[in-house]
Amino acid sequence: MSGLFITLEGPEGAGKSTNREYLAERLREHGLDVVLTREPGGTPMAEQIRELLLTPSDEQMAADTELLLMFAARAQHLAGVIRPALARGAVVLCDRFTDATYAYQGGGRGLSVERIAILEDFVQGDLRPDLTLVFDLPIEVGLARAAARGRLDRFEQEGKAFFEAVRHAYLERAQRAPQRYSIVDAGQSLDAVQRAIDGLLPGILDRCRG
Ligand code: TMP
Repeated sequence: MSGLFITLEGPEGAGKSTNREYLAERLREHGLDVVLTREPGGTPMAEQIRELLLTPSDEQMAADTELLLMFAARAQHLAGVIRPALARGAVVLCDRFTDATYAYQGGGRGLSVERIAILEDFVQGDLRPDLTLVFDLPIEVGLARAAARGRLDRFEQEGKAFFEAVRHAYLERAQRAPQRYSIVDAGQSLDAVQRAIDGLLPGILDRCRG
């Protein structure tokens, strides 16, 4: 048996947390075993790495350190949560995964895509998400939402150019492999976003049964 691996992506303030709960509920209504998780994080040790990555510090984190910590957390998460869940046939719904590394460390920090791809192969082997939903919205809207939530983490403190590059990288990846990605317009009302998710459900359920 092998489950289905779905990832949710997008820039800051795109409403991923609200929408992942919504999608998880819809899938559970159909009797599916759904594992809701996130990156960086998802296990106690990977959550400790997340703290290190997100907490602002006086010592500047080198871009390579950031990249390696993302993949270190991912290795732990894959071993402890993702692979076991997929092996028992569950649907894994993961808030961010390696597309975020291509978008943030690749697009945002300017690290080479080739280097990221080497680590992706090393840590994941052949495992790639079956489906990736990209919640897209204008940078200004997302940053205003993130700012309204309170204290900014180390990534949220970046400037507009960084997030423009992140958004661009996500959209470019999505456009290059449309069979794997669905772009959801996250700038619409919550109702409209959830209707868009409802529209994707039949396809997801088909793949679970297939
Ligand atoms: P979030 O869980 O609130 O989305 O925060 C996670 C932050 O970590 C977000 O700013 C994106 C960033 N991130 C990366 O830079 N690279 C990655 O590979 C992942 C998974 C997240």
